[in-house]
Amino acid sequence: MKIHLEIQRFNPEKDENPTFQTYEVEVNPTDRLLDALLKIKNSEDSSLGFRKSCAHGVCGSDAMVINDKERLACKTLIKDVAKRDGDIVKVGPLRTLPLQRDLMVDQSPFFHNYRQVKPYQINPEPIKEKERIQSPEKRRQFDDATKCILCAACFSACPVKQGVNPDFLGPAAVVQASRFIDDDRDKGFEERLPELDYPDGIWPCENRFECTRVCPRNIKVTKLINLTKRKITEFRKSEGKT
Ligand code: SF4
Ligand code: FES
Repeated sequence: MKIHLEIQRFNPEKDENPTFQTYEVEVNPTDRLLDALLKIKNSEDSSLGFRKSCAHGVCGSDAMVINDKERLACKTLIKDVAKRDGDIVKVGPLRTLPLQRDLMVDQSPFFHNYRQVKPYQINPEPIKEKERIQSPEKRRQFDDATKCILCAACFSACPVKQGVNPDFLGPAAVVQASRFIDDDRDKGFEERLPELDYPDGIWPCENRFECTRVCPRNIKVTKLINLTKRKITEFRKSEGKT
């Protein structure tokens, strides 16, 4: 079948504003959107800029907005975004991050917030045996959060970041914090607290569920944000603070 890909283009060296360029591409319904982009790049327009690496939904580098929804190009089948011959598929870069070129955004603000929550195990206690032993049951408690591939789809789809509060820490950083807060080997809750418990930290989340809707790993992002909020509130109460 033939589809029309309407792709946002922007060259910072000569364009003032982004524009859309349409490409007609011959595809199979079971091809992925990434295949169609590669086809354009390899045979029609080598200037088209987009990121990709693993091509198998693991690295998180090809998140973009496809038909108005954040998705991984390598996990999006043509048949799921174009039903008939001649259909138009609109492709743009992630929102809420500075545009660099075409479908590429500057991911620095996203990774800055990720690093802010100290996404690593904090435990000053000496290791008694060769390693810190954990039961399968305790490991399961933070399993969902370990699936995050840092694609920034949630950061882009979040309505709070898009308008209400662009400085909001963002969903993925909270997912990463919860991954360690819920790990019984980690003792960094209080050290991480100032990075979450401040006006632009975890609190601006309004439970709009867009993060959960777009997450390509099906992580229950909103639920993890709410559970983390609850842990902070309980800690505050236990310390005699409201
Ligand atoms: S939580 Fe989901 S959408 Fe957000 S960065 Fe991780 S994998 Fe991507
Ligand atoms: S290219 Fe790695 S997730 Fe799509």
